[in-house]
Amino acid sequence: MRIPDSTIDDIRNATDIVDVIGAYVRMKKRGKNFIGLCPFHQEKTPSFTVSAEKQMFHCFGCGVGGNVFTFLMEHDKLSFIEAVRMLAERAGIRLPEEGRDDREEITEQEKLLALCRAAAIRFHDNLMTSVEGALALEYFRHRGLTDATIASFGLGYAMNSWDDFFSFARREGFDPALLEKGGLVVRREDGSGYYDRFRGRAMFPITSPAGRTIAFGARKVREDDQLAKYINSPETPIYNKSRVLYGLSHAKDAIRDKEYALLVEGYMDLITLHQAGFQNVVASSGTALTTEQIQLLGRYTKRITLVYDADSAGSKATLRGGDLILEQDIDVRVAPLPAGEDPDSLIRKQGAKAFQEKLDAATSFLEFRAAQLQASGAFSTPEGKAQAIRALVETVGRMRDELKRTFFIKRLAEQYDVYESVLFRELEGVLGRQQTAARAERSTPRPAAAESQRQPLPTGQPQGIPPAERDLLKLMLEHGSAMVRYVRGEIDPVLFTSPTARAILDVMLRHDEAGEYWDAGMIVDDLDDATLKRIVTELMISRYEISRGWQEMGSEPAQPDPRIMADDCIAKMQLRSLDERIAETYRLMRDSELRGEDITGFKQEILRMQRARKEVLSR
Ligand code: UTP
Ligand code: MN
Repeated sequence: MRIPDSTIDDIRNATDIVDVIGAYVRMKKRGKNFIGLCPFHQEKTPSFTVSAEKQMFHCFGCGVGGNVFTFLMEHDKLSFIEAVRMLAERAGIRLPEEGRDDREEITEQEKLLALCRAAAIRFHDNLMTSVEGALALEYFRHRGLTDATIASFGLGYAMNSWDDFFSFARREGFDPALLEKGGLVVRREDGSGYYDRFRGRAMFPITSPAGRTIAFGARKVREDDQLAKYINSPETPIYNKSRVLYGLSHAKDAIRDKEYALLVEGYMDLITLHQAGFQNVVASSGTALTTEQIQLLGRYTKRITLVYDADSAGSKATLRGGDLILEQDIDVRVAPLPAGEDPDSLIRKQGAKAFQEKLDAATSFLEFRAAQLQASGAFSTPEGKAQAIRALVETVGRMRDELKRTFFIKRLAEQYDVYESVLFRELEGVLGRQQTAARAERSTPRPAAAESQRQPLPTGQPQGIPPAERDLLKLMLEHGSAMVRYVRGEIDPVLFTSPTARAILDVMLRHDEAGEYWDAGMIVDDLDDATLKRIVTELMISRYEISRGWQEMGSEPAQPDPRIMADDCIAKMQLRSLDERIAETYRLMRDSELRGEDITGFKQEILRMQRARKEVLSR
């Protein structure tokens, strides 16, 4: 359900964060703020601070922070929507009605589950006992499946008939309307009746994580079958393709045990792997891998190895899947197979040991991409190399974790002999663009931020943002649009060297470009990353005011002019950028000199930058 932004704003305006948190934490007023013992970590002296003025909280001990929604999400482990709903109720604000799941709907789901269960049993009986089913049984055995595997996965056979299943289900008392809703029969176009969807096919029951049958995949086994190799159930009230992983109910224990999951493309890949002893495997059968499927798998493990078919479709799916998985903050590795093989064929031809060797040789997704680019000859020309490195940085940009990003950027810099600073600058651009794209998808509900890792942060120095950038961010968050526009007029956002600062700045810029009113509290909601949320609140509720310490200036200025403070930050950032560029140009010049090349261009460039530096200093 989508709650309009205007309603969320209403709720925010009708709510006082001090009241809400006051119900959980005993607090005392201290200056403008309230302080108490932090509910998120053990402490003896209070460092948990709530600002009524800013409607934010922040703990200087463990670094947790945010607005009133974030507090409920973290404290009560609610989703964003649940937190909104709770506060709406408290404030007496009506929300749009939720899709009614009253009793009627629940009984329909139960009926559909009963139908699918009956169907799975019927198909399995067909396979094991009917003369016609013997053909399919032979097919499965021919593909190397044992009877135990066939039974364990409940494999079956749908008779080659227009109404065998329909008549059976009618006899069992299922309504035609329910059969249609469950995707097992299809209504004739002229409305004159129904026919079986699956005819003369080997059947693979698809189960929920709890192991209940919710749909079917159906493989062709007859020469005269003109339809697609696999036909799947349509979406039904109990089967949402994008949220189901084939085999999860069989795999979840093994995934938890081994602490990682294999992700494959096909039904048969999964079953063959299972039989060969690789039980921590799921398949995204019947659809291209979706974010919901990854989130589902993410509840069981944070490490996934992709083992897709070694054909062009499989390698495309690997690239796409790898990016999607990284975005969910899950580690992804790739185990490439020999050309033309899929996991099922490899195991049948070469056995489990050969497959294990492929798993042992799996590399990180980034290395896989790099190797692929290298193999395609991308690194043989300077332009190709630049492009390839950009593509790799793009992948790094998908990682949610700043530490991981830094690690991989350093690796790339070493491996391809490029300056780190160049890669970091590239990464910033990528991150900025991705935030914009994510923003466009705001309507989809966010995963609970509460799940993300919480580590004590060094306070006072949010995430190693250089002081000038940090102070400038704080000024913009405090003074809103007018300050953002002022800063924007003075410097280019690329002068923010910290990707963290840049991500926060981007959200402010976007509001501004859209001509929307905004304040720091709204920025907190717009940031998807828990660390970023925390940094904003820490900046807003600082223990120390902006670093210069205006009190030290003797007579304390009543109202320091924020623009003067901003100018000071801007000058520092410009100096830093110029110093870096001068140093970099020196390095390049020396390299050129060693190669005996003309270096006048470099000299002029350095002179120009030194003049610019003097100019900044004189301001
Ligand atoms: P593949 O074409 O790679 O088939 O499709 P496969 O898994 O190797 O199948 P076998 O070994 O020939 O039996 C991979 C997956 O894509 C879906 C199925 O889920 C299949 O397992 N698919 C494929 C379809 O949904 N429809 C199709 O027509 C083909
Ligand atoms: Mn196959």
